[in-house]
Amino acid sequence: MPLLEVKDLKVHYPIRGGILNRVQRYVKAVDGVSFTMEPGETLGLIGESGCGKTTTGKAILGLCHITSGQIVFDGEDITKQVKKNRSPYRKSVQMIFQDVFSSLNPRKRVMDIIAEPIRNFENLTPLEEKKRVEELLGIVGMSPTVATKYPFEFSGGQRQRIGLARAIALKPRLIVADEPVSALDLSIQAQVLNYLVDIQEELGLAYLFISHDLGVVKYMCKNLAIMHNSRFVEFGTSEHIYENPAHIYTKRLIAAIPDVDPTKRDENSQRRNAINDEYTNQRDKYYKEDGSVYDLKQLSEKHFVALP
Ligand SMILES: Nc1ncnc2c1ncn2[C@@H]1O[C@H](COP(=O)(O)OP(=O)(O)OP(=O)(O)O)[C@@H](O)[C@H]1O
Ligand SMILES: [Mg+2]
Repeated sequence: MPLLEVKDLKVHYPIRGGILNRVQRYVKAVDGVSFTMEPGETLGLIGESGCGKTTTGKAILGLCHITSGQIVFDGEDITKQVKKNRSPYRKSVQMIFQDVFSSLNPRKRVMDIIAEPIRNFENLTPLEEKKRVEELLGIVGMSPTVATKYPFEFSGGQRQRIGLARAIALKPRLIVADEPVSALDLSIQAQVLNYLVDIQEELGLAYLFISHDLGVVKYMCKNLAIMHNSRFVEFGTSEHIYENPAHIYTKRLIAAIPDVDPTKRDENSQRRNAINDEYTNQRDKYYKEDGSVYDLKQLSEKHFVALP
């Protein structure tokens, strides 16, 4: 049984204005997204800024209003109950936020930040709680002595690990990791990614791993969903997407990954130019007249693309 099924999810934000503050129009942040995830799987959700990645993640956690669609977790339709703070579902799914600094309360000590979800769901004695927090800090490679410090006393990478410790405090089955390393230096990115992978193996976690950078997710994700204009333009295994991209938008994302091999630089630059030409001259092959994307159609067993 799949761990998570998202069916035709739509999130339209009302934009109000005028003297009467009436709804004037809607921003279609997510406009018909469907996918499934197996337990323990990592699914990469990739796309440019504003395409609807964070909104998709927030909808799964019940942090924004779902306009229509359905979310099924472990076989149970939880679309209506995601908003309830103490539902068991809220324990099973956690989020690591894109902007980690603002998601850690600056006035709280690390131990209170990490213990917050535990306090919401479990009745531990102060001593048991302290032990659990120290254990969680250990899992993300931090010393128990940091528990009494405040978020501003840490570097970006350390803060991200504190966010991770909080996210795993209730032993969730799914973590929505929203750009967990984008704000970090390259050297620290690798370190945080390694923690994410180690913890995943230890706890059997599934990740919905959000990123705008296909390079970062290359080694982490079994499956990839490429998002553009509030919808998926391509979905498939990482091998299919990297080796055989079918949508022009995916091709452009792959061509944009920096070259590591200097001998292939010319070849890659030629390919990049060809793809940019195709994007400029044959756009109507890939997008509808109004610029929106087509429904996904199946290319092979595990590869779907939005083409007419
Ligand atoms: N609370 C909101 N009210 C109105 N519009 C919103 C709200 N939140 C997001 N949007 C809009 O919805 C669209 C999708 O936003 P979202 O944050 O999901 O994008 P994203 O893919 O995560 O982008 P980024 O890579 O920059 O984080 C954007 O056009 C954004 O302006
Ligand atoms: Mg975002």
